[in-house]
Amino acid sequence: MKAVVFTGNGVAVDDVAEPAILEGTDAVVEVALSAICGSDLHLLDGKTPGMREGGVIGHEFVGHVVAAGESATAHPEGTRVLGSFLIVCGDCTACRKGRFNHCANRRALGLGTLTGDLDGAQAEKVRVPLADVNLRSLTGPFAEVPDEHALFCGDVLATGMYAAHLAEAGEDDIVAVIGAGPVGLLCAAASTARGARAIVLDADPSRVAFARDQMDLEALDVSEVDAGEAVREATGGAMADATIEAVGHVAAFRSALRTTADGGRVVIVGVYGSERYELPMGMAWIRGLDLRFSGMANIQAHWTDALEQVRAGAIDPTVTITHRMALEDAVEGYRLFAAREAMKVTLKP
Ligand SMILES: NC(=O)c1ccc[n+]([C@@H]2O[C@H](COP(=O)([O-])OP(=O)(O)OC[C@H]3O[C@@H](n4cnc5c(N)ncnc54)[C@H](O)[C@@H]3O)[C@@H](O)[C@H]2O)c1
Ligand SMILES: [Zn+2]
Ligand SMILES: [Zn+2]
Repeated sequence: MKAVVFTGNGVAVDDVAEPAILEGTDAVVEVALSAICGSDLHLLDGKTPGMREGGVIGHEFVGHVVAAGESATAHPEGTRVLGSFLIVCGDCTACRKGRFNHCANRRALGLGTLTGDLDGAQAEKVRVPLADVNLRSLTGPFAEVPDEHALFCGDVLATGMYAAHLAEAGEDDIVAVIGAGPVGLLCAAASTARGARAIVLDADPSRVAFARDQMDLEALDVSEVDAGEAVREATGGAMADATIEAVGHVAAFRSALRTTADGGRVVIVGVYGSERYELPMGMAWIRGLDLRFSGMANIQAHWTDALEQVRAGAIDPTVTITHRMALEDAVEGYRLFAAREAMKVTLKP
């Protein structure tokens, strides 16, 4: 079958062996639609090291189950399903508390050897371990949610919902979101859906324009101005009750500290690797900054909420899709996304 594989310094579309059931708890899903995520780029820019050459990339997908192991009973063959990038056991103390992202046996799909070396979903088929907990049936109330909408509920929209939850975004709150990529935009949409006023900031004017024109969001261009000053001006000095950092660069983290009001919440969703930052302890202490690192987003706790928002029409994540491409054209899709010429690229096998 065709799949997007890591070549050592980039991606290629290659022929690979079809996945099979390896354990009784597995399912194999025939992929109807997948997408390229900012986290996939981290495999190429070195932030997420350890992707195996020839390993299949991809962790956002919808499809239907074509094989299920003997103990994978929740989603029988033929069931239309949504996948999660986060692969959990469902059985450890953290999972039983619903804190799936802190699962003692946590893995991730298609994101390299450090997270389980699982082949990913930018492919015709994908094997999903512990399928009962790591797939969500698109049945019942969600049977009518189209593939393109559901696709977002296993990663970026569920991540946005989790970020808004960590930010405790509420009706009286101003939530600043650093980064207007797909993740930042959906963090803002999720915050807005909870009643907050969201202000998105990006250093790329084209992304600011996209946030304003396509998503109808309040958006500030911080390519030339300091993020803290921009938010100070936009809020009449009040600053943000919470800031969501959806970039994953130290510069953006520093901006998040500056856009947040004293006593406010700083939620860090952007991915970090070996970067370092010297935190001025006295500043953080006297300002009472509440730093909340998301880690991997708690998808399994938020994908139903995300689907509800989408089904109700409160959030339309498909607005972020700028390129609908065939899986065979994935190399060009990666190029466009890395160059920020694309906002969100979907790949159809
Ligand atoms: N925690 C999780 O589970 C989780 C899930 C999904 C994605 N992510 C991460 O979220 C981050 C964003 O993902 P994405 O797909 O939106 O990526 P993206 O690269 O499309 O978007 C990042 C945006 O940040 C902007 N930016 C860069 N530096 C900036 C700065 N200093 N100030 C303001 N804006 C700046 C860029 O112009 C860009 O628009 C990535 O690090 C991704 O890996 C985390
Ligand atoms: Zn992702
Ligand atoms: Zn677990």
